[in-house]
Amino acid sequence: MTERITKSMAKNIYYGGGLFALLIFLGLSFDTVQQIPKRSNQINMSESVVAGKALWEKNNCVGCHTLIGEGAYYAPELMNVFQRRGDGHEANFKNYMQGWMAAQPLSEPNRRKMPQFNLNAQEVNSLADFLIWTSKVNANKWPPTIEG
Ligand code: HEC
Repeated sequence: MTERITKSMAKNIYYGGGLFALLIFLGLSFDTVQQIPKRSNQINMSESVVAGKALWEKNNCVGCHTLIGEGAYYAPELMNVFQRRGDGHEANFKNYMQGWMAAQPLSEPNRRKMPQFNLNAQEVNSLADFLIWTSKVNANKWPPTIEG
């Protein structure tokens, strides 16, 4: 007797397999959506953080930098710049940000340039708050090194 797959068997595999994959997909999607509020640290999304995000977009920081890996590869990843340049201390990081933003563009030769954005102290403070908030998003220990 030759073993052949019948039409109805093929149909069952098609529909059964499709349904199985769909259920797994829905289950994982549900799980992801459930976890987002906790992982995104959205409870700490203050008005200043929101203002910082708007400045981040308006000035197209992402045109040169990456944030959580998304963006352009011209300039350093900024998700962990809070740890890198502020040692995880908000006051240190905010001082650093005021100094850094005011000092651009640096005049050292052979160094990539960041433009001067002429932001006021409050705007830089909001950008710092936005970057501090971003650093606390749970991105599965990404980026892998402190230098981004
Ligand atoms: C035209 C490209 C460009 C844009 C746009 C840009 N940057 Fe930069 N940024 C750079 C470069 C290049 C460096 C690294 C410069 C260096 O090391 O001298 C840098 C470095 C930084 C650093 C220091 C990173 C570190 O690891 O020390 C911070 C903070 C920063 N940028 C914030 C911003 C913010 C906030 C914006 C938007 C308002 C922005 N950048 C827009 C090019 C850019």
